[in-house]
Amino acid sequence: MYWTYTIFIVAIIYTLLPAYLANMAPVFAMRLNWLPELNKPIDGGFKIYDKEILGQGKTWRGLIVGIIVAIIISSLQAALQAVGWLDSVRLLDYLSINFLAFGFLAGLGALGGDIVKSFIKRRVNIASGNAWPIFDQLDFVLGFFFLTWSLVAWTENIFWTAIILTLAGHPLSNMLGYYLKIKKVWW
Ligand code: CTP
Ligand code: MG
Repeated sequence: MYWTYTIFIVAIIYTLLPAYLANMAPVFAMRLNWLPELNKPIDGGFKIYDKEILGQGKTWRGLIVGIIVAIIISSLQAALQAVGWLDSVRLLDYLSINFLAFGFLAGLGALGGDIVKSFIKRRVNIASGNAWPIFDQLDFVLGFFFLTWSLVAWTENIFWTAIILTLAGHPLSNMLGYYLKIKKVWW
């Protein structure tokens, strides 16, 4: 029984890996200064009513690197399925859904969710880089489900377990990132 739950939790993490790693990619890209020519704010530095549209933290580099990482991960997941590895934690049939489209939508959803969140954050007067609990944590998961819904008939069980796991796992991964000096702030 417990083993079944454990497998289900690992399976959900495995399924969301394209989104999780896409969400982490912009910070690595920033720290390692990948593709410096893409390090430009998506909002072009423009403001609405004296407030940044998105802020300096949302760059083309983050968006593009996130999408590329998600496509790489979904392709690896399809390859692992082709050779029959990790069958017990696989919830999706990567070889039947278009895994490239899935990776693209996962990355675009994750980073798009983050961008939409920053847009709202600026409107409610929270400065770029300041915390907005819960929304900062769930933005990319909601974006991921929203865009991949066209390819996968997600169940409520998968959706809510993913939400809870993300909320629980986020503080841990952030503190790890902060400790490893990948992130500047612990949230
Ligand atoms: N990042 C990026 N492009 C993106 C998303 C993130 O370059 N589309 C990089 C930025 O360097 C950003 C960092 O990843 O500072 C952390 O991302 P996040 O926490 O989402 O951004 P914040 O700077 O906290 O901005 P906001 O308040 O708008 O969430
Ligand atoms: Mg932030």
